[in-house]
Amino acid sequence: MRRAAVSSRGIFITGTDTGVGKTLAAAVIARLLRNRGIDVGIMKPVTSGCSDIDGRRLSDDAELLAWSAGCDPADTDIAPYRLAAPIAPSVAASMEGIRIDFGRIRDAFDRLAARHDFMIVEGVGGLMVPLAGGLMVADLIGCLALPALVIARPDLGTVNHTVLTCYAAKQLGIQVKGVIISNYPETPDRAAESAPHLIGSLSGTPLLGIFHHVEGEDRRVVVERLAEMLAVDPATRIMLREIGIS
Ligand SMILES: Nc1ncnc2c1ncn2[C@@H]1O[C@H](COP(=O)(O)OP(=O)(O)OP(=O)(O)O)[C@@H](O)[C@H]1O
Ligand SMILES: [Mg+2]
Repeated sequence: MRRAAVSSRGIFITGTDTGVGKTLAAAVIARLLRNRGIDVGIMKPVTSGCSDIDGRRLSDDAELLAWSAGCDPADTDIAPYRLAAPIAPSVAASMEGIRIDFGRIRDAFDRLAARHDFMIVEGVGGLMVPLAGGLMVADLIGCLALPALVIARPDLGTVNHTVLTCYAAKQLGIQVKGVIISNYPETPDRAAESAPHLIGSLSGTPLLGIFHHVEGEDRRVVVERLAEMLAVDPATRIMLREIGIS
């Protein structure tokens, strides 16, 4: 397969909430790009709820993203803030006596971006999650000057959350490339069935993909299976083109 052309520095993966499938979607996109010959870099600037194993502070999200992109998960630039408490990052950071510094994140991002063709950055929770003082995830997106992709749940409530997220992003000057609905059930109920059309028509943002629920022993298997499915889906080309890969 020919090597794809890259016309953007990267994408910031945000979501309508925590647990909506941001890491899964980011890892799948990283895998799709890698399979197209792109040197993809990944970053999870802030993780809360990290565990300490063998003297290393582990971000599960950064581990999966690094595996998917073929990067070294031990590189501190990939995940500069690994916080233990599974709560809002500004609170988890202050519990450890630290303050999340956007300058440090920006420097780490710039070093990674200089080494890779395209960067995939996963946020934490949604746009309004507090990171430091009055600064939130939306401010971090602005600081990194990246366009965003919004990951949404498929079930009841998602239309409201997704439209609110896209609306807020636009108000804050964030360019939203599109929405991806993740973990879409094989047999959708009425809410899931109507969500794609409603999101596409009400969010003012294109619906760029539906990532189906895939079974797997662990998240790596799910990523591999999903990437295989998406590689042969014609909609994937449009999604990748919209984020700057053609
Ligand atoms: N398409 C899918 N198929 C199967 N499982 C999925 C899919 N999308 C998401 N999941 C599962 O849903 C859960 C949440 O996904 P994920 O960890 O990617 O969410 P997140 O938004 O990154 O969460 P966090 O806010 O903690 O970073 C995980 O267990 C993940 O494996
Ligand atoms: Mg995640």
